[in-house]
Amino acid sequence: MSLLELQRLLGSLPPSRMRPEELGALAAGWPDALEVEELAAKACFSDQGYTRTILHRSPAWEALLVGWLPRQRTARHGHAESFGVTCVLEGSLVEVEYRLAPGGQVLKAERRKHGPGSVFHEQPHTIHHVEHAGRVRAVSLHLYAPPLQRMELYDGSTGTSHPRRSGRREPKSSIMVR
Ligand SMILES: [Fe+2]
Repeated sequence: MSLLELQRLLGSLPPSRMRPEELGALAAGWPDALEVEELAAKACFSDQGYTRTILHRSPAWEALLVGWLPRQRTARHGHAESFGVTCVLEGSLVEVEYRLAPGGQVLKAERRKHGPGSVFHEQPHTIHHVEHAGRVRAVSLHLYAPPLQRMELYDGSTGTSHPRRSGRREPKSSIMVR
């Protein structure tokens, strides 16, 4: 599937909010169906941090690419009301998942490495951070429903969270691809 075909497919999906099962079913076919090199070539990179490139955004959902350079990572975050799926197109990412302890602390629960073709899921209650895991660049494709407008950032010692608008630290790097 080319980028154009993916954009046509995404554009033809119903504007109503996609359900998590629909997100999962769509992303399950990505590793085999996508023309990975063409898609990955649309990703942007910055020394300032991981870089989001919006492929499609509607009120109900969005698809975007993230370009990662070595040692770049997200903050520890939750996903407000969004469900998401991520497919690694190039390179490798590490996902570190956390859980909230009864006392409020945020504890590391699992660490998973995702290589090319891996798909992983995010739910509103998922608390994790994602980091680049290799020596060369990485590219990932993300689908969120509804669009990930804000991330919940967690304080590690108290477990309290506060919202931050998604992509705020990369004001020059959220690029709409037409
Ligand atoms: Fe996330």
